Amino acid sequence: MSDILYVNGGTPLHGTITVRGAKNFVSKAMVASLLGETPSRLSNVPLIRDVEVVSGLLDLHGVAVHYDTAAGVLDLDPSNVETAHVADIDAHAGSSRIPILLCGPLLHRLGEAFIPDLGGCAIGDRPINYHLDILRQFGAVVDKRAGGIHLRAPRRLQGTKISLPYPSVGATEQLLLTAVRAEGITELSGAAIEPEIMDLIAVLQKMGAIISVDTDRVIRIEGVERLVGYHHRALGDRIEAASWASAALATGGDIMVKGATQPEMMTFLNTFRKVGGQFDVLDDGIRFWHPGDKLNSIVLETDVHPGFMTDWQQPLVVALTQASGLSIVHETVYENRFGFTNSLTKMGATIQVYKECLGGAACRFGQRNFNHSAVISGPTPLRAADITVPDLRGGFSHLIASLAAQGRSTVRGIDLIDRGYEFFQDKLAALGADVERGCS
Ligand code: EPU
Repeated sequence: MSDILYVNGGTPLHGTITVRGAKNFVSKAMVASLLGETPSRLSNVPLIRDVEVVSGLLDLHGVAVHYDTAAGVLDLDPSNVETAHVADIDAHAGSSRIPILLCGPLLHRLGEAFIPDLGGCAIGDRPINYHLDILRQFGAVVDKRAGGIHLRAPRRLQGTKISLPYPSVGATEQLLLTAVRAEGITELSGAAIEPEIMDLIAVLQKMGAIISVDTDRVIRIEGVERLVGYHHRALGDRIEAASWASAALATGGDIMVKGATQPEMMTFLNTFRKVGGQFDVLDDGIRFWHPGDKLNSIVLETDVHPGFMTDWQQPLVVALTQASGLSIVHETVYENRFGFTNSLTKMGATIQVYKECLGGAACRFGQRNFNHSAVISGPTPLRAADITVPDLRGGFSHLIASLAAQGRSTVRGIDLIDRGYEFFQDKLAALGADVERGCS
């Protein structure tokens, strides 16, 4: 059974919506609570499926989780942490990648951890080799078994010196969550420095960790014996905010996104302005709108922070189908993040994908078999279609395309969007969209 959204498109979105805490921070802060000896409280937590999945995983490990969904407050008490059954972890994790990040905290607390097989996904292979190398370097014994990977810490994990071949967000988080309670000093070079990572460092510091961040992607951690719980308000979701901004641009609308913040969105805002969108930074959020003029084509390359986020790319590409001329987008974070353009082409967009690194420096996917550059020719009117959501952000792009298109579209598999977009259907209704949910 798949959830469907019927969308009567062609109406500009107008109105105000609110974004709460960042999906890609909240789940990590929840995991960090495992490291404390006392309860933690996280606020500004969105009601999304990823939060439910991580709550379930923590619950399986003996963490008492209480979530006041209306207030967005999550209380996490790790006093009774215990080893969970492998089959339960496997059944509960679904497609979530969070079990990998439980490893460091569980190795400290219990001396062992288990990661179910995670597999690839629609946007790329998403290997975990950096994570396993990091855990090995701390002294963990990694044992690949049927159904997953078992890890053991024969003695207290030891601080170490590590250099990442690529500034991976997850691997940097893995290192932080492991190093804070390891014995001695850990130094990471080539670290990811996304705002969500900085907020995780803020949480860990509140818990008693000693972490310094240099300007050259070097992070140093002095391990401590014990950590306590934290009280923290999650930073806002800059991916969701940019998704609504792109929806305003693609539909010719005007959306006030409460909870959007300028410092974390600087790079997006520059690009949004270059395309021809307008915005106003206000005390409680950012208003994004289409001024009614022609939109401009651009050359864009995704990158790690402070570059243009890969997760902003998919929604913005829909707006680029309405820009005049040829836009070039070079995706350098994931090897396979243009699959979603097939549906846009079906809806009338002119998009060609290439294996070459177009419009920027050569990246690690060049000369390999990955369609990771796209050329978008516009403006092209979009027409309604029957389409299926491929992944979370690609799914939101499909939603934007169907809102911009004339006619009634059928968007299948939209339950995937519930993973990361809180109350998106209510928000669409508040913005004047004509949508109806069904299932088949
Ligand atoms: N990589 C490896 N080996 C590893 C880990 C990563 O080769 O062991 C590669 C990946 O294959 C990818 C690149 O490094 O090509 C970057 O991956 P990264 O580890 O930075 O990504 P992640 O931690 O798995 C998080 C977000 C993603 C977001 C990326 C980049 C979460 C739960 N996910 O993933 O968010 O795209 O960082 O910012 O935090 C989303 O929200 O839809 C989403 C996919």
